[in-house]
Amino acid sequence: MRKIKKLEMRGISKSFQGNPANRDINLTVNSGEILGLLGENGAGKTTLMNILYGLYQPDSGQILINDEEVRLTSPLDSIHHGIGMVHQHFMLVQNHSVLENIALGYEKTPFFFPKIRIRDKVVEFARRFNFAMDPTMKIWQLSAGEQQRVEIIKALLNGADLLILDEPTSVLTPQEIEDLFHILKDMKAQGHMVIIITHKLDEIMDICDRVTVIQKGTVVGSADTATMDKRSLARMMIGREVLFNAEREQLPKGDTVLKVDGITVKGDKGTPVVKNMSFEVYENEIFGVAGVAGNGQRELGEAITGIRAIETGRVEVKGVDTTNMSPRRIYDAGLSHIPEERIRFGIAPGLFLYDNSILKQHHLKKFSKKLFLEYSQIRDHAKSLVESYRVSTHSIDVQTKNLSGGNIQKLILGREISEKPPLLVASHPTYGLDVGATEYLREELLTRRREGGAILLFSEDLEEVMKLCDRIAVMFEGEFVGVLDSGDPRLADIGLMMAGSLRL
Ligand SMILES: Nc1ncnc2c1ncn2[C@@H]1O[C@H](COP(=O)(O)OP(=O)(O)OP(=O)(O)O)[C@@H](O)[C@H]1O
Ligand SMILES: [Mg+2]
Repeated sequence: MRKIKKLEMRGISKSFQGNPANRDINLTVNSGEILGLLGENGAGKTTLMNILYGLYQPDSGQILINDEEVRLTSPLDSIHHGIGMVHQHFMLVQNHSVLENIALGYEKTPFFFPKIRIRDKVVEFARRFNFAMDPTMKIWQLSAGEQQRVEIIKALLNGADLLILDEPTSVLTPQEIEDLFHILKDMKAQGHMVIIITHKLDEIMDICDRVTVIQKGTVVGSADTATMDKRSLARMMIGREVLFNAEREQLPKGDTVLKVDGITVKGDKGTPVVKNMSFEVYENEIFGVAGVAGNGQRELGEAITGIRAIETGRVEVKGVDTTNMSPRRIYDAGLSHIPEERIRFGIAPGLFLYDNSILKQHHLKKFSKKLFLEYSQIRDHAKSLVESYRVSTHSIDVQTKNLSGGNIQKLILGREISEKPPLLVASHPTYGLDVGATEYLREELLTRRREGGAILLFSEDLEEVMKLCDRIAVMFEGEFVGVLDSGDPRLADIGLMMAGSLRL
């Protein structure tokens, strides 16, 4: 196996059931270079990279490594040629240790390959790229960022010269993103090449040398990032200006919709991670919970929406005690939920798009008549969701798992918001959305607010929180260290509050 100095995709086309996902795509990466791949949800980015990783075969086109054509008919082929990939959704075995997962994915592992040798290698790689890694930890004990590092080590151990990362930052905290970028810059300095898919224009500007933009399966441009800025990138991608500012007008304070009264919630490890917390969210309000991931935000959201037990205290939705009710009954009380782990909790991947368009709503009158589901109504509903949320799909008769990552998100968002729930709990609603869809979603949240809805928004994106929220709570170690009105000058110190070094 020779080191990859240059990799080229030439004239790559790929269709699914006659629908083109990639059309005549040309793309080049050189060693020591980080290439950004940018494009709207459904543009064909993941498909193209899956072809490079040997998961899909192109219908036509060539792949050349160091100017010689290669055929990549399986991931093993790609790994042999020095190509590694970290997927949009990780593929680790949750109840195995780091070491076991790496051994499983190690292509040179003979049956009895000594784990000790792999452990030594993991330690060596961790040192070389400056990160901490305990090989005996189980995957489920790791944060998203740590799991991702396991995937990266797996790829590097297999000798990857080219590392493909599909939306690596959407599940990471700002600190973890910084750590990841350090690793990538080290890799680059050591002559590796990286292709990174991301919707975050700042990241492209920050880390990529070049960017290639795909629109509806076709390359519409490539450029050195040094010659571009955020706006020109956005224009290249969606062919119009993107307004990076949503308008939020003042609205009078409405009635209480959500009342959280002294709740305590335990985390996966059995210790309290939400501690005696109380707050209310009103009509016409977006209440934001900011904070570094891992400070109890996820558990708080899960407790309110009924997927995690509340140990003490009480939650009310529109005056109804919903403490420890089932998610379905909490839904009936008026709460819709955009969960953090959307692929796990938000959809049934094997079902058709139209089925997923009414998940949890099957019992609503308009969709069921006596015992039977009204399929024509459901199909109409699915069609209107697809249209208004611009879910890019060729039909509603596709299995949901075949939608692109961002389009699955849009479907869930549309489903939860379109019912106009009195209370919407949204965790990181713009994760995985392209800039156009992000803009649209933010508008939808503001519309919901204007119509009298109450929204509890969990987000790590400070820009998003500042733009959308009427009040902002900062969560640290299971408590709010401050709750501020959006105009409060003390928000200048939000970073300190998030780090726990300032308490108001
Ligand atoms: N296995 C499959 N079967 C059928 N259609 C597919 C399959 N995989 C992808 N597609 C379709 O190909 C198109 C491109 O999807 P792809 O996942 O490559 O988009 P993407 O650019 O990665 O989008 P996102 O930013 O949302 O992740 C979409 O219309 C998608 O529905
Ligand atoms: Mg994708």
